[in-house]
Amino acid sequence: MNNWLETGYPVDHALNIDVKDFCLSEPMRDGITQLWNEKVGVWQLPAEHIFKKQWLQETNKYFNVDITGGLIFYRTPKYQHPGAHTDVDPQNGVNLPVIFSYNWVMQEDSLNPMVWYKPYSGELDSDVDQGSMAYKEWPTEILERESEHCLSHDQITMCRTDIPHNVDMNSENERWCITARCWGHHQKDPWQTVYEEHLCLKKKSDLRLR
Ligand SMILES: [Fe+2]
Repeated sequence: MNNWLETGYPVDHALNIDVKDFCLSEPMRDGITQLWNEKVGVWQLPAEHIFKKQWLQETNKYFNVDITGGLIFYRTPKYQHPGAHTDVDPQNGVNLPVIFSYNWVMQEDSLNPMVWYKPYSGELDSDVDQGSMAYKEWPTEILERESEHCLSHDQITMCRTDIPHNVDMNSENERWCITARCWGHHQKDPWQTVYEEHLCLKKKSDLRLR
């Protein structure tokens, strides 16, 4: 079982805004900018703002989820972040794991893979909390690399987010990545169950298209 699954689900009518223009014309936006330092940017928007209404409705129905928001991740060429993180959902002071997200990159990319590491089993635990962006992060040099995969630009890649992950920035190009964050019964299931459910869905829709 991989740490990702190419779902075959299209994203060509997903975006409601010109993402690059929105972020770079005014990088600092109240309630939206999570991180901006000219090398890296992270912006979080409500789902209805970043995604087209029709795409949102169809996608929620298809995956049986509730997409509540979208994240935009920007990295300049060769910017290598030294840590890997797991995604968490802070609820009443407890950081609940976020099992997966729906991701795609904005340009075709075969050089800058998302990288997954084995769950950290040592003593060091680092909670990072930046505004509404909460996660756990460890330096990659203390982690053991497990797998890597370059995200698609024309379909949703479902990605595992409850084990440490990062991006290797190898190319000369900047990288823009979109994440649809969703809730629903899947987020309570372990990765194996989520993976199998999505695989089943993919097989069913492959059959329909034949
Ligand atoms: Fe993440």
